[in-house]
Parts: sequence; C-alpha cells; structure tokens
Amino acid sequence: MHIGILTAGGDCPGLNAAIRGVGKSAQQNYDSQVIGFRNGFRGLMENQAVPMQGDILSGILTIGGTVLGTSRDKPHRMVVGGKIQDMTNVIVENYHANHLDVLICLGGGGTQKNAQHLMNNGLNIITLPKTIDNDVAETDVTFGFYTALDIATEAIDRLHSTAHSHHRIILVEIMGHRAGWLALGSGIAGGADVILIPEIPYNVESVATAIKKRASSGKKFSIVAVAEGALSKIDDDKLKKLESQKEATESKEEKKSIKKSIKKIEDQKADHSFKLAQELEILTGLESRVTILGHLQRGGIPSSNDRLLATRLGTACAKLVHEKQFGVMVAARGDSYQPVPINEVAGRNKLVPIDHPWILSARDVGTNFGD
Ligand code: F6P
Repeated sequence: MHIGILTAGGDCPGLNAAIRGVGKSAQQNYDSQVIGFRNGFRGLMENQAVPMQGDILSGILTIGGTVLGTSRDKPHRMVVGGKIQDMTNVIVENYHANHLDVLICLGGGGTQKNAQHLMNNGLNIITLPKTIDNDVAETDVTFGFYTALDIATEAIDRLHSTAHSHHRIILVEIMGHRAGWLALGSGIAGGADVILIPEIPYNVESVATAIKKRASSGKKFSIVAVAEGALSKIDDDKLKKLESQKEATESKEEKKSIKKSIKKIEDQKADHSFKLAQELEILTGLESRVTILGHLQRGGIPSSNDRLLATRLGTACAKLVHEKQFGVMVAARGDSYQPVPINEVAGRNKLVPIDHPWILSARDVGTNFGD
C-alpha cells in the first residue's frame, strides 16, 4: 500500500507520536510505503512530498508540533496567486500521481470536514482526531488535549500564589475555540474558584457575588478560569436571537446584515477577559489582572498521556489501512479504538454537556459557573 499522510489545522502536542505510530506500524507490519505531505492540504496541492521511510520516523515521539508542518488551508478555498480558488482537482491529481491508496489526515473539526470533502471527491481517507480543544465528535478524547490540560493547570497553580499574595482576582483565559473542555478540566484540576465556559453563558453579577462571598470569608483572592469562547448571558441571548433571525429570513440583504451583527459579537470575544476583569473590579472592589495563556498551551513536548493516545490511534490507523477500512475516523474508545464513519463526525462539535460529571463535581466543591 502507498499511504499519504498530512497534518492540518492548528498544531498540537502528539502529532509526531501519531505520525510515528502510523508510519512505523505500516512499514514494519504491513510492508507499506508512507509519504508525508508538508503543511496540510496545501502541501498535497503543491506536491510537497516527503518519503517517510526509516530514520525520519525515529526520535520524533517526544517532539512537540508536527515535523510535517501544518496550515489551515482548505482544499476548496485556498489562496493561490492572491485569489481564493478551489484546488480540489489538483489535490485529487496529486493523490493519483503519487499512487496513493489512502490519505491519512490528522486534524480537528475543520480537518474532518475537509477530509470529508476529499472523500466525496473519490479519495480513500482515514482521519485521526487531534486538537487541544477536545471538541471532535464521536471520540472520547483527542490527542493534544492532555498536554494542554497539564500546561493550563500548571499555569493556574502558579497564578494562585501571586493572586493570594496580592489579594487580587486573576482571570486566566484558556483556549478551546467554542468548547469549554480545556477551561473546565484545568479549572477543576487547578482549583479555580470560577469557571466560565461557552456552554454555560455567565452573568457577571453571579461571578461578583461568588467572589465577594469568598472575600467576606477571608479569602480575598480569586482565580477565574475563562474559556476563550465564553459569553455573557446577554451576548449569548443576542447571538441566539440573531442566529434564529438568520435562519428565518429569505432576504439575502437581511442575511448579510445579520451576519455582520453576529461577527460583531464574535469579535468582542477577543478582549472579553479584559472587559470582564474591569467589570469585576468595579463590582467587587478587588484589584484584577488578566493572563492569556494563548499558544503556550499548544507548544512543547507532549505529555505521556498524549504520546500513549497518539501511538495507540496511529497504530490502529495502520491496521485499518491494511484492512482497507476507508472513510473513517479512528476514534478513541476507552483503552481501545473504534472506526467511525467520517460522515458522522464532520460538521459536528463535541461540546461540554451542562450536566457532565466534571461540572457536577466542580459544583459539589463550590465552583461558580457564573449561572
Ligand atoms: O483549535 C486549536 C486552537 O488552539 C483553538 O483553541 C484556538 O481558538 C485556535 O486554535 C487558535 O488558532 P490560531 O493558532 O490559528 O490562532
């Protein structure tokens, strides 16, 4: 078999472990040839092929990022020559020119959709679920998540001592796109006093009341873990209303103007932690600071959990290739794996259910969710 492999979307720890898992197993157990493509779907479009035999797969298990490079390019909407173009046909041609039997795409939600698009254009595809956001549907977990969880937890631990010393509120903004898994997990593990996630729109007064209650019991500092996608109840209501207006209208003009208003609210997320800190300072009388963890959460060496998960899913992927089970994502299921049709994954997000056991436990220890 000739196996093509690429990494697409945002990078994350564990990608190299997965590439190694697929490559070593495919070569050693099934006598297959593996060809890497640089920089996601763009590399396949530009035919930037890298033979992945032998040594290239050694020594990468513990390295962060992706040795193949990545990009957020979509096959059907790629900037080429300064214009957005549909490059699907070129990608399909290069797939055949390289005599590929299958293309393995390592990515998050966006990549699952792009992979589905190529599948619909006749290519054999298998995907692996990666992202620090842990928001890919149908898999227990995505690789990259555990490392980011460790990093964000350590950051919260470190912020505790300075918040405590200065009697301050510290808001720590945590990645996760539209899902709250990372903020929730690290908030619980780091003992944040307030956790704000997109799935539970918050009320700033509720947050302020919880912080004041702590202060009046002698704890004059508080840690607020805020997911980057968290929204106030007011903005969330506005957004929901606009979304339903957009669905209801037939007029193109009106749709366009509603989309603009939606974007305005979405754009506010860029500095919402700073605004929230200011509001809390006014409502509680306590000094506030903001720490945005940003891309630190995606950088550096993968944790042992991610190395293990990525290796497991990578070797399972090589087996599925050998069995010619195409059109599937290799989902993590407990200690094992499950091939799930890409059609059941693409276009769906795994958000935190509001009655998830993690949330219930956090509430049991007194964590405030701003509701
Ligand atoms: O999907 C991973 C992620 O890190 C999200 O948590 C975040 O919203 C986004 O990527 C950031 O993207 P970029 O690295 O392109 O700025």
